[in-house]
Amino acid sequence: MDNEQNKVAVVTGASRGIGRACAMALAEAGTNVVLASRGMDALKQVADEIRSHANGAVEALPLELDVSSEESIKTAFQKANEHFGKIDILVNNAGITRDGLMMRMKRQDWDAVINTNLNAAFLCIQQVLSGMVRRRYGRIINIVSVVAQMGNPGQANYAASKAGIIGLTHAIAQEVASRNITCNAIAPGYIETAMTEAISPEAREKLASRIPMGRLGQPTDIAPLVRFLASDEAAYITGQVINVNGGMYM
Ligand SMILES: NC(=O)c1ccc[n+]([C@@H]2O[C@H](COP(=O)([O-])OP(=O)(O)OC[C@H]3O[C@@H](n4cnc5c(N)ncnc54)[C@H](OP(=O)(O)O)[C@@H]3O)[C@@H](O)[C@H]2O)c1
Repeated sequence: MDNEQNKVAVVTGASRGIGRACAMALAEAGTNVVLASRGMDALKQVADEIRSHANGAVEALPLELDVSSEESIKTAFQKANEHFGKIDILVNNAGITRDGLMMRMKRQDWDAVINTNLNAAFLCIQQVLSGMVRRRYGRIINIVSVVAQMGNPGQANYAASKAGIIGLTHAIAQEVASRNITCNAIAPGYIETAMTEAISPEAREKLASRIPMGRLGQPTDIAPLVRFLASDEAAYITGQVINVNGGMYM
């Protein structure tokens, strides 16, 4: 995968779970990675792991980023740009849930999820887009969810935030396709990470029985698709929502 050498990717929420797996996969392809989230200790560990796997072939830069703060987003992207001089690939992966039935959902839980998931995707894309347009190259990959398409009781805020990102993906794909920039979304089903660890064993079994593949997914089920969409080989794929859900939603 020589083509991916010298490229620079920013992965938000790279400290664990899906983001960590995506950053590792991009680095394996020879891409330099900016690992961004709030947890610097975890990010440094991921960076060390990448460096030891890559044997010096790629750079991994841990950067503090709170995507719920516009100021933090601006500072982090400025630092990434200062360090690498460009950003070729953006993976909008950082995300949260604050579940609750609609009738009882607190305004602050609605706002937190819309802000961290949807508003952050908008703001992070704005940080990279002008450079991508100037260089006539870019890959934007937004991690959404099967819940954006199916809905889920107790997740009105989360479903709305992820469905919003799908709309954002379609609009941006059309705006910048002529500049050789692609914008796609990946919609994972249920993936075993910190986000889903609170699901009880009984509920997990019930869930698995609704998934044709008979199991929940792993972060490594998502990461290869991120690597592919970020590559030159995916140059003609844009505006798509690609499901990785074990057949749970077709
Ligand atoms: N797991 C699933 O079943 C599933 C299914 C569909 C979609 N997804 C989506 O996949 C993405 C990754 O989720 P995951 O399952 O890997 O969850 P996770 O293990 O909880 O990881 C979430 C990541 O987001 C980061 N993050 C959260 N709030 C942040 C903030 N304010 N600023 C910066 N970073 C923040 C966390 O880092 P810090 O705590 O270090 O900040 C962490 O790295 C999310 O967008 C999620 O909605 C997950």
